[in-house]
Amino acid sequence: MKVSVNNIDIDCRDEGEGLPVIFIHAFPLNQTMWDEQVAATSVTCRAITLDLRGFGRSGFGSSSHSIEEMASDVRGLMKRLGIERAVLVGLSMGGYVSLAFYRNYPGSVEALVLADTRAGADPQEARERRFKSAEKAEREGSAAIADDMTPLLLGRSSQATRPDLIAKTREMIEGNSPAGIAAAQRAMAARRDSTDLLGTINIPVLVIVGSEDSLTPPVEAEAMNRAIRGSRLEVIQRAGHLSNLEQPRLFNNALKQFIHPLEQFG
Ligand code: MLT
Repeated sequence: MKVSVNNIDIDCRDEGEGLPVIFIHAFPLNQTMWDEQVAATSVTCRAITLDLRGFGRSGFGSSSHSIEEMASDVRGLMKRLGIERAVLVGLSMGGYVSLAFYRNYPGSVEALVLADTRAGADPQEARERRFKSAEKAEREGSAAIADDMTPLLLGRSSQATRPDLIAKTREMIEGNSPAGIAAAQRAMAARRDSTDLLGTINIPVLVIVGSEDSLTPPVEAEAMNRAIRGSRLEVIQRAGHLSNLEQPRLFNNALKQFIHPLEQFG
């Protein structure tokens, strides 16, 4: 369904009843990456997914995007859906958006799941790589970005054994507009460093990482887990950067164990 937020149409799904759980997707994918998590959590929770601005079926808005603006879109969506507080589950870029959301609207977050992500900003070389990738998307189209990104997103086990996942990942990337991909790369390059925020988080946090994640490796997850008081770390074996897609059963078990006590006392 489409909901108008911050003057653009945000495409979202809203399934089930109970504790609201909002899933925020990775770059350069879309909300369908969460299908298996929606199926698992909507049995007892209200599971919400959205296409971030510039991705999937959502609108584009102005030509330059920011992570803060994406967080504001999530907040606007919550308001439109009548939700005061939610569990945010963000993977990679979705994690950047979740941390920006917590910085700006801490009272609206029940708990955080930070999957395959990092708190730090980009060093200069990484920013430059993003600018080149944004230009490549604009020049050569989304398929060229799918060529570059798919082998980085999936772990070596999935690449060796899961042609279906390779195809699904490519399909999501190729379904996005080059302009949306480029705008998100530039938004990520400009994102704020959230390292100092970690020590201020005073809600339940689950940190998840795929053991084969080469983009945001386990060492990043360990650092976040150490910096957040009382957080828990779950390493998903035989999964790369897209741990929820690569090992949905293990990811869902970790998620359900984390969410279950919140449902009872939330
Ligand atoms: C993602 O999966 O969202 C991206 O790998 C994030 C990034 O490029 O930093």
